[in-house]
Amino acid sequence: MPEPPPPEIAAALAASAGRRGTIGARIWYFSEIPSTNDVAISLAEQGAAQGTTVIASAQTAGRGRLGRGWHSPPGAGLYVSVVFRDARYAPMLTLTGGVAVADGIRAATGLPVEIKWPNDIVVPEGLARSRRLKLAGILAEASTGAEGLQHVILGFGINVRPAPYPQELTNIATSIEAELGRTADAGSVLAETLAALNEQVQRLEAGDAQSVLNRWRALAPLAVGSSVEWDRAGARRRGTTAGIDYDGALLVRADEGTERILSGEVRWL
Ligand code: BTN
Repeated sequence: MPEPPPPEIAAALAASAGRRGTIGARIWYFSEIPSTNDVAISLAEQGAAQGTTVIASAQTAGRGRLGRGWHSPPGAGLYVSVVFRDARYAPMLTLTGGVAVADGIRAATGLPVEIKWPNDIVVPEGLARSRRLKLAGILAEASTGAEGLQHVILGFGINVRPAPYPQELTNIATSIEAELGRTADAGSVLAETLAALNEQVQRLEAGDAQSVLNRWRALAPLAVGSSVEWDRAGARRRGTTAGIDYDGALLVRADEGTERILSGEVRWL
C-alpha cells in the first residue's frame, strides 16, 4: 500500500506543484518496494495517467541497464519512475530523462554534473578531471501491444547520500553529498528533477525535440572527441566520439568510417 511521503519530500513536491504540470500530479510513495519501474508498469497497465509518479526510499530489486541491478539501500537515494503514454515522443524519452536528472541536480545543488552516453549522470573526478564517477542513472522501459506503444516507464535513480556500495561499484560510483562535501536536500533534488522533466516534455509536446537534443549535447562534453572502444560481431573496435544523432545513437569515427552505436556497452578510454 502507498504511504504518505516523508515531510522533506512532501514539502518540496507541494512547493514545486506549479512547475511540474502533469509530472508527479499523482504520486505513489513507498518506503520499500522491489522496483519503482515494476509498480509504475502495473499502474500503467491499470490505466494510470501520463505523469503518474512512483517514488521509493529503498528498492529490493532495483533494475539498471543491460540486465544489471541498481543498488538502492534505504534512505541513500531517490528511486523514481514516471508513466508516459504519448507515443509521439517516446523515442526521445531516455535522452529527455538524462537532461532532466542532470538539470534537476544542478538546480537543486549546484553540482556541475554531466551526462555520459547513453545516460549516466556523472561528475569529473579529482584534479585531473579525466575520469568520471556515476551518481545517477536512467532506465526507460517501453511496453507495446497490438495497437502499438502502450506506455513508457521512465525510471531514474539518484545517489543522494554516501552508502556502502558493492565492491564492483566502489571505484565508479559516488553520491551528491560525497561530491558536495555537505548535506543535500533530497526533496529539492526530486522536485527540481520533476520540474526539469516537465520543462523538457513540454518542448517535446511543442514539436521542439531539437532544443532537448541541444541541451543534452551541452550537458555531455564526452560525446565529442573521446576515445572509445566497443565490440561488434566478435571484434573489438576503437574510435573517437562524434556526437549523437537525432535518435540518440552515439556516432563514433573509426578507421572504417562513422559508426552509429545504438545500445550496448561502450568503454571510455
Ligand atoms: C542505469 O543502469 O544506469 C539505470 C539505473 C536506473 C535505476 C532506476 S531506480 C528507479 C527505477 N526503478 C528501477 O528498478 N530502476 C530505475
